[in-house]
Amino acid sequence: TSSLATTFLDLPLANPLMNASGVWCSVASQLEALLESESGAMVTKSCTLDPRNGNPEPRYRVLDGNKPWGSINSMGLPNEGFPYYLRYTERHDYETKPLFISISGLTLDDNLAMVDSLKDAVTPAILEINLSCPNVPGKAQLGYDFDAMDTLLAEVTSGYGQRQLGVKLPPYFDIAHFDEAAAILNRYPSVAFVTCINSIGNALVIDINTESVIIKPKDGFGGLGGDYVLPTALANVNAFYRRCPEKAVIGCGGVKSGHEAFLHILAGATLVQMGTALYEEGPGIFTRVKAELLEIMKQKGYENLADFHGKLKTL
Ligand code: DOR
Repeated sequence: TSSLATTFLDLPLANPLMNASGVWCSVASQLEALLESESGAMVTKSCTLDPRNGNPEPRYRVLDGNKPWGSINSMGLPNEGFPYYLRYTERHDYETKPLFISISGLTLDDNLAMVDSLKDAVTPAILEINLSCPNVPGKAQLGYDFDAMDTLLAEVTSGYGQRQLGVKLPPYFDIAHFDEAAAILNRYPSVAFVTCINSIGNALVIDINTESVIIKPKDGFGGLGGDYVLPTALANVNAFYRRCPEKAVIGCGGVKSGHEAFLHILAGATLVQMGTALYEEGPGIFTRVKAELLEIMKQKGYENLADFHGKLKTL
């Protein structure tokens, strides 16, 4: 019989599926639902030092008119503030599944302050630093500013006492950028994983009937998720899998069934996150996608994820 069991940073997981940060993880009731779900791990909403209301609504729309399917969002980091998520890390049931805490400070100092509290906290929550929020007006994505990213990694990794952590990256679209980002990340051995990708930032969805944008913030510009981003996500997973052999890659982008989860793992993802599809379907999605992934493995004669992890063929 086939198994979805895996390990991440030496921790055992029942399966490789989890939520994407931001989806179903902003408040305690949602985090509890994720804990109850059949996900193998879970992550909290990217937080800032202080609570934020985020951008004006409407700020999230599902794009369900026709195929392909997806979402556009410009949430602007609405969240309960770092202390709220820190408190959740103190009561999470780590026996049931690992927990990641995502932080997205508005400044380097804010990030360092959160990292400093986490270093002293006695929880085994795994830190994911979001370098790729596209939706805070006036704040550039750190992942697109290589000097700022390098500076942040230097300070954060030393501030965290070389404890293992990971980064959530934006999608890159140029081989030179894959090379440069990977070279920077490889200078920091305590950066143990990279999560690829955040939404494709600053897309513009237009409704032909109303001749209007469909979300209010930033004149309608927002981050794209769903089917539209799958090939970009797979490219980024595979690019960093090839370039960062000492790090794990978490795949995120366009996963709505076992099929896309399989592709992410084949491209090199150790864990696979779901955002847009989880938003639409709720935490029951993990039960369905687990069964679909197992079925694909059975049909192909694979018993374990290791049988195909990173084994993408080229021509
Ligand atoms: O698409 C995104 N939306 N990515 C982020 O990192 C943050 C989020 C938001 O709150 O805007």
